[in-house]
Amino acid sequence: ARRHIIILPAGQSPGQKVVLITGCSSGIGLRIAVMLAKDEQKRYHVIATMRDLKRKDKLVEAAGDAYGKTLSLAVLDVCSDESVKQCIDGIKDRHVDILINNAGIGLVGPLESIPIEEMKKVFETNFFGVIRMIKEVMPDMKKRRGGHIIVVSSVMGLQGVVFNDVYAASKFAMEGFCESLAVQLLKFNVTLSMIEPGPVHTEFEAKMIQDVRQKEYPGADPDTIHYFKNVYLPSSVDIFEVLGQTPDDIARVSTVHCASSPRFRNMTNPWYTPIVALKYADETGGLSVHAFYHMLFNLGPLMHISMTAMKYLTCGCLRSRTISPT
Ligand SMILES: NC(=O)c1ccc[n+]([C@@H]2O[C@H](COP(=O)([O-])OP(=O)(O)OC[C@H]3O[C@@H](n4cnc5c(N)ncnc54)[C@H](OP(=O)(O)O)[C@@H]3O)[C@@H](O)[C@H]2O)c1
Ligand SMILES: *[C@@H]1O[C@H](CO)[C@@H](O)[C@H](O)[C@H]1NC(C)=O
Ligand SMILES: *[C@@H]1O[C@H](CO)[C@@H](O)[C@H](O)[C@H]1NC(C)=O
Repeated sequence: ARRHIIILPAGQSPGQKVVLITGCSSGIGLRIAVMLAKDEQKRYHVIATMRDLKRKDKLVEAAGDAYGKTLSLAVLDVCSDESVKQCIDGIKDRHVDILINNAGIGLVGPLESIPIEEMKKVFETNFFGVIRMIKEVMPDMKKRRGGHIIVVSSVMGLQGVVFNDVYAASKFAMEGFCESLAVQLLKFNVTLSMIEPGPVHTEFEAKMIQDVRQKEYPGADPDTIHYFKNVYLPSSVDIFEVLGQTPDDIARVSTVHCASSPRFRNMTNPWYTPIVALKYADETGGLSVHAFYHMLFNLGPLMHISMTAMKYLTCGCLRSRTISPT
């Protein structure tokens, strides 16, 4: 069997915190790894993990000088007990100060056409993958009376979205899990916090679009396929275009979580706060369901127009404005 021993560089200073991040081959995980490794005060030693080291080039290039100094690479597949254990065992004293659970996969489309096996893979990665990581590092954190666990969830973990049924369910599961565990961990001085991004421009989005092009949706009736392809997808693409944040926007929020005691939840995209507020404004849930129905099926075409208008009005400045107070 291949061994993946990570020996922290001799240069690691005593005060440096060990941060382990999952899913660093692309997107949000890659940017979090690079931003923490390039911290001006050199507060972190980053162990950037990915399931397939053949995909390391983009990260290594982005890390530049930090690679081999404040950033090490390691193999870790969140779906494998063995891989997770091997990776943690390879770390000096199994000591992880901050665990960032970022790895995740999406799934979109008519329910009728998705095999149960594919749905289980989403839960295996997004839900059990996180639990597998937490189970491996939590006992040591509890013993040490210190540590921080960060979970990259999604606004879809707080509000379901049509045709994202199973993905949303996997993130909801995570939210319930973390709400429960956070209380116990607080007793052991271990912090658990969640980050809920809205749409972010990463491979996640490209993977979704490519997936939709390839699929034929067997088992779904023509009306459902029509609603999915011609009503949902165009508005989803618009929303990504107008409201989408960059992986760096999310990485910046993550660095704040690492450096201070964060709030339990952090929605990175202020556009989504009203959507979640709607849900709590009416505890029967009717308001949310009908508002989403109305938005998609009655205002869909209108929304397309207003999104397009917004796109021109904001000329792309919106993305940076959503996070920066200036
Ligand atoms: N992009 C969005 O709009 C958005 C919005 C809200 C939340 N999120 C969440 O943000 C997180 C990061 O997604 P992203 O947008 O950065 O997407 P991404 O670019 O597709 O990155 C996902 C990462 O997870 C990794 N991964 C998948 N399965 C894995 C496994 N079994 N073990 C280890 N790593 C695995 C991927 O590795 P491979 O390269 O090997 O596939 C990749 O590095 C996810 O949890 C996602 O749910 C994304
Ligand atoms: C709790 O954790 C913080 C930050 O990790 C640390 O500074 C503090 O000493 C810990 N407190 C106790 C009582 O262990
Ligand atoms: C999320 O975190 C960022 C950085 O700490 C902060 O500026 C923002 O106000 C937080 N948002 C919410 C909704 O808590």
